[in-house]
Amino acid sequence: MKILMVCLGNICRSPLAEGILKHKAKMEGLNWQIDSAGTNGYHVGEAPHHLSQKVARLNHIDICDQRARRFTRNDFDNYDKLYAMADDVLEEMHAIAKEKFDPAKAELFLNELHPGTHQSVPDPWYGPEPGYHEVFKLIEKTCNQIISKYKHQ
Ligand code: 4NP
Repeated sequence: MKILMVCLGNICRSPLAEGILKHKAKMEGLNWQIDSAGTNGYHVGEAPHHLSQKVARLNHIDICDQRARRFTRNDFDNYDKLYAMADDVLEEMHAIAKEKFDPAKAELFLNELHPGTHQSVPDPWYGPEPGYHEVFKLIEKTCNQIISKYKHQ
C-alpha cells in the first residue's frame, strides 16, 4: 500500500497521521510506503509543530525528521489512497489536482473510523496542547482501522 496523508499546513495533523501509521505498519511487518503533504504550502520545509512532535514523542513515535511539502496533482499517480484530514482539505486537493483528482483514491480520513459520516479531524493549530492530544487519539484509532482493513492486501 502507498498512502498519503494530507492536511492544510502539513505541520500538525498529517505528520502525526504519517508517523502513527508508519509506526503501526512497521510493527505489523507491512512494507507500506507512507508520506504526508499539505495543500497550502505555507510551511514547506518546516519540521512538524512542536506540540505534534511532543505528543508523538510521549507515545514513543519520533516525527522530528519529517519536513513539510506541498501536495501536488501528481500525488494521484504515486499513491493508492490519499486521505484528507478534513473536508476543506479534500476540496483543496480537488482544486489542485483538477482532472487528476480520483474519487476512488481520495477519502476523508475519518470515514475509515466512522464510515459514511464525513467527519473532519479538528485542526489543533489554533488551540492549546490538549487539542493535540485529542487529535493524536483520533488519528491513532483511525490508523488501527486502516491497518486492519488493508493489511491482507
Ligand atoms: P495542519 O494545521 O493543516 O494540521 O498542519 C495547520 C497549520 C498551519 C496552518 C493551517 C493549518 N496555516 O494556515 O498556517
